[in-house]
Amino acid sequence: MENTPSEADQASAKRLSRRALLGGGAVLAGTALGGAAAGHAAAAAGIAVPPGSAVMPTGSGAAGPGAGGRTGTPVLHGTATEPFWGAHQSGIATPHQAHGLFLGLDLVQGAGKDEVRSLMQVLTDDAARLTQGQAPLGALEGDLAATPARLTITFGFGAGLFDAIGKPDLCPPGVRSLPAFSTDELDPAWGPTDLLIQVCSEDPMTLTYAHRRLLRDAAQFVTVRWAQRGFLPARGTEPDGTTPRNLMGMRDGSANESDPAQVAQVLWSDGAQQPWLKDGTQLVLRRIRIDMSTWDDVEDEGKEIAFGRRVSDGSPLTGEKESDVVDRTAMDDMGFPVIAPNAHAARAQARTAQERMIRRPYNYVSETAPTGEVEEGLLFAAYQADIMTAFVPVQERLAQADALNIWITHVGSASYAIPPGADQGSFIGAGLLA
Ligand code: HEM
Repeated sequence: MENTPSEADQASAKRLSRRALLGGGAVLAGTALGGAAAGHAAAAAGIAVPPGSAVMPTGSGAAGPGAGGRTGTPVLHGTATEPFWGAHQSGIATPHQAHGLFLGLDLVQGAGKDEVRSLMQVLTDDAARLTQGQAPLGALEGDLAATPARLTITFGFGAGLFDAIGKPDLCPPGVRSLPAFSTDELDPAWGPTDLLIQVCSEDPMTLTYAHRRLLRDAAQFVTVRWAQRGFLPARGTEPDGTTPRNLMGMRDGSANESDPAQVAQVLWSDGAQQPWLKDGTQLVLRRIRIDMSTWDDVEDEGKEIAFGRRVSDGSPLTGEKESDVVDRTAMDDMGFPVIAPNAHAARAQARTAQERMIRRPYNYVSETAPTGEVEEGLLFAAYQADIMTAFVPVQERLAQADALNIWITHVGSASYAIPPGADQGSFIGAGLLA
């Protein structure tokens, strides 16, 4: 749900549209007003506005203070919400928010099924409130909670949780452990944990508030092993729905299924192996360091050979549009493959329907020294009904020969079972913890 423009916006839109109609498009281009007002005025004046243009920059060529600055009136989306209750947890098939946090938590010594059930009841209640713009029970910060900005809070269970509740057999194999891959340089500091909380929002303030409150209510039962924060381009930088670029400058997510029926097939467990996981999914989270200093020195042509897709618009070298499918069989006039066999997209492309996954990664930057020295990379997050048939074979192929391996190193790895959603009155994980 998006906010409707305020009365002030509508009033200025009316003024602007009268002026635009009287004075022509030049008036619109020259004004310092933007955002909703400009959008509505433009529509009134018959000027096409691209769908999803949350912020309409105006004033091209305008000189003086404020030119290119925060002069527009953006369409507000602070009170926009994503549903919490339902068959599936939100934050998986949900359009990617600009900020993400992955919290890896361990249960305190001695916590068993009763404690985990209490924990999940409390956290479910907190998440249901926070995602709908309300402070958790007993919290005093109503104003901070009031702008969820599409906040989603998603819970995952690691192998240790299954052991703690006395049900080790109900842990899916890909969550229990992943095979070692030849290129791994994993640091156990970013390793698997008993519980995962994924928090995503368009607003880093909201994210920080939710982070703090959730941990406060969980403190009796868990300790924090790691917190990994990531980001995408800010909302409003490009039209909604544009595939975000990663730090390497490439559009990342182009080949994800977009047809809802296909997305459902890739994601949701049918419960055949683990009945309690029906309508849930499985998550692999890999922390992948990228050597940006050497990547930045590669010309666009080299970058495109490494990925098999174009830097400009993400289209495959064998196609024209971003949505075109990578063709691994296409040959050029000389009889060479158009996309190199070791190009990332070629190696990663699913060979069977079971190999498909939905990728929902976030870029990360972490300061490693007070001097501002940074480590940059990708929090690669991929969801699939079964990690063993999707992520594992694909990562095996990538470890063997992915052109990206020159620049990237997997330094962290954790995987989780993501329980189905819950109906109001129940809680996440009820099917396992009853
Ligand atoms: C830093 C590490 C990585 C970066 C920067 C990266 C980036 C990209 C980019 C830019 C694309 C092309 C656009 C797209 O289809 O989204 C892509 C495709 C893809 N990547 Fe990655 N990726 C990384 C790691 C991985 C890993 C670890 C996996 C899984 C094991 C993976 C699986 C895929 C898949 C399945 C595709 C789609 C291939 C297709 O069907 O065309 N990626 N990746």
